[in-house]
Amino acid sequence: MRELPLDDLPKHSPWPARLFGSADGDGDAEYSGTGVSAYDEVYANLLGLLEANPETEFRELQRSANHYAEESPVPISRAESLYLVDVDEKQKLQDEALVASLAGTLDGGETVVALGCGWGYELGVLADAYPDCAFVGGDPAENGVALGRELFGDRDRIRVESFDFRDDEWDLLERVLADEGGDDVVLFSQGSLTALPSVRDVVADTLAEYADRVREGVHLEHVYELHAEESLLGLLRRRYADRRNYNDDLLASLRATGAIEVTSATYDVVGGNPLHPLSEIRWEAV
Ligand SMILES: C[S@@+](CC[C@H](N)C(=O)[O-])C[C@H]1O[C@@H](n2cnc3c(N)ncnc32)[C@H](O)[C@@H]1O
Repeated sequence: MRELPLDDLPKHSPWPARLFGSADGDGDAEYSGTGVSAYDEVYANLLGLLEANPETEFRELQRSANHYAEESPVPISRAESLYLVDVDEKQKLQDEALVASLAGTLDGGETVVALGCGWGYELGVLADAYPDCAFVGGDPAENGVALGRELFGDRDRIRVESFDFRDDEWDLLERVLADEGGDDVVLFSQGSLTALPSVRDVVADTLAEYADRVREGVHLEHVYELHAEESLLGLLRRRYADRRNYNDDLLASLRATGAIEVTSATYDVVGGNPLHPLSEIRWEAV
């Protein structure tokens, strides 16, 4: 892992050039947003890979996808510093941030409900790290749910179901709450609230309704409001999110609801894309 000056980021990421319009095929439409169908297509390809090699374990599948997508070294960020790392090391750092985000919360017996879990890679990593807890994930991408079920169907501590933040009621969470009782239920998301152009209504109308029924909320998400307006990196990150139509209102929406108190917000715990880092937000019901 070696430090990467911000000035050299364009040598290792196409995004600075894209953001300033000097890359081929420039155009807002090309880079804007990442809808469920785009994820579903990626998950369909992985499902095909698994069907061709049914013995593939979930970490190996992720590794294949990583090496298909990128060549070492790759740029990452941590706490507003940039580094170049090997593709496998990048995954290791992301896994560590994921496991660390729940370290102070889980001590055995809890059920983590991971909303927008994709095909469930995060569920597998967390289940390995927390052998006394259960993990229920949900995602609207049908192929993601199908792939998760193929990979984890024989594990009794992992379940993957259909789920959409935009639904008026979160049936998946209702079922877990009915089975477990809220004292032991932790609401979690990683990189999925980001996919919505705004989270204001989802937070105010739905998440807040469940807040006092769960123990804690933990989010590893892209948090626009934490990007500095006075630094070049912060400005690049703001422009990246604007250009891709990612939301800019997660932290403000959480802080605006009287139902919860944001207990911590830690900026840039890891950035698999240094212009789009994950920050860790924790909240509790008031
Ligand atoms: C960047 S991926 C993150 C997946 C997984 N949490 C991870 O960290 O690998 C974003 C995920 O958000 C999901 N997503 C998009 N819109 C959603 C919605 N309305 N409700 C729930 N999940 C959604 C996508 O299907 C996709 O799986």
